[in-house]
Amino acid sequence: MKSCIDIGLVGLGTVGTGTAKILLENRDLIARRVGVPLELKRIVDLDVTTDRGIALPDGLLTADLPGLLNDPTIDIVIELIGGYDTAKRIMLDAMAQGKHVVTANKALLAVHGEDVFTAAARAGLDVGFEASVGGGIPIIHALTEGLAANRLTSIVGILNGTANYILTKMLREQQEFEDALAQAQAAGYAEADPTFDIQGIDSLHKLAIMVNLAYGTPVNVKDVFTEGIQHVTALDIQYASELGMVVKLLGIAKLHDGEVEARVHPALIDKDSPLAQVHGVYNAIHIVGDAVGDVMLYGRGAGALPTGSAVVSDVISIARNIQRQACGRVPPTSFPLDQRVPIRIRPMEELTTRYYLRCMVLDRPGVLSQIAGVLGNHGISIMSVLQQGRHEAQAVPLVIMTHRASERSVQTALKEINKMSSVVSQPTTLIRVEDEER
Ligand code: HSE
Repeated sequence: MKSCIDIGLVGLGTVGTGTAKILLENRDLIARRVGVPLELKRIVDLDVTTDRGIALPDGLLTADLPGLLNDPTIDIVIELIGGYDTAKRIMLDAMAQGKHVVTANKALLAVHGEDVFTAAARAGLDVGFEASVGGGIPIIHALTEGLAANRLTSIVGILNGTANYILTKMLREQQEFEDALAQAQAAGYAEADPTFDIQGIDSLHKLAIMVNLAYGTPVNVKDVFTEGIQHVTALDIQYASELGMVVKLLGIAKLHDGEVEARVHPALIDKDSPLAQVHGVYNAIHIVGDAVGDVMLYGRGAGALPTGSAVVSDVISIARNIQRQACGRVPPTSFPLDQRVPIRIRPMEELTTRYYLRCMVLDRPGVLSQIAGVLGNHGISIMSVLQQGRHEAQAVPLVIMTHRASERSVQTALKEINKMSSVVSQPTTLIRVEDEER
């Protein structure tokens, strides 16, 4: 048993600062929970001068990365610099020195996770990445431990706070997309490159990590269909409201006959469903397990302290493992490496769901029947139609809700519809409906 667990932190940005603050301010409480103190021994960042609003002991913050990685007393290295190459090198170098690692780096884990997980498993080291999905929500521990008894038939999450904040602003304040995005950035929620948030890439990374853990399979992110919210308009959000639905950017994984359907896209959900109540920067993940039934985890998906909370929870788990010589007890991939079996990710064309379609059409006799005819020819049945406004010279929105149809048929039909002379000004907007299959 050690009398103290020493921590090295690399990266003192937003999450790094939150992590340091928690380790310093909750030091006594954490020491009681672990049984010995966790000592934040070194912090490394290229910027050693900016005031981060926390009082750090003199000499704690330096730019000396080799000094941290080569310090034999450091047991756990926390990597919070983000990005791919340098972050991966830091993690592998730390493990090569026998150190456990903790990271919030979902992009790295989604794309290069196998290298990191394999290195850790082979060395019997722990890798903590609770902060990589859902900020402060303990979803990784839920998947690896709390729900480990279950076959998980469905995982549906609001996984990106920035996108959810934007959609919430667009709904509640009738804001345009660009204004809402600027506010999310000013509030510090967006990634350094906000395209990751709005194009669904950040949600994709988080979904890929969850699928990996839930189903014991490596995931190639290229196999997961990903569409962002950049084409969602205030008009579609308003029509969704009229239909009793809201638009959310969802990461969806479902188990079907031994295959996994995995996709990220804006979706219409019933306004009374639990995920529809998740607003602003909050994230939530709704899971269905064959034994447990429905579980929903809800919390802050971004921000210094919520994400720092998840980082420190990993540090505490690893510190406890070190104390009991139980490192590697929970495999980082949830399933031991030799128990993982690649599972087919179903291509998007094989999806069947309901669809919201909005065409801008010239309001002339026969237009609706032409469009309905194309849909009918492709076996797509219409559930309802909404059209308001009357401008013979101008395009008006025509909103069609379909019954369940195949993605392949809908995409083929839309190509034909978009070529029609009465469909003008823009291609048809398509938003998939996410509801229980019936
Ligand atoms: N940019 C991310 C979000 C931060 O908006 O959810 C947490 O991953």
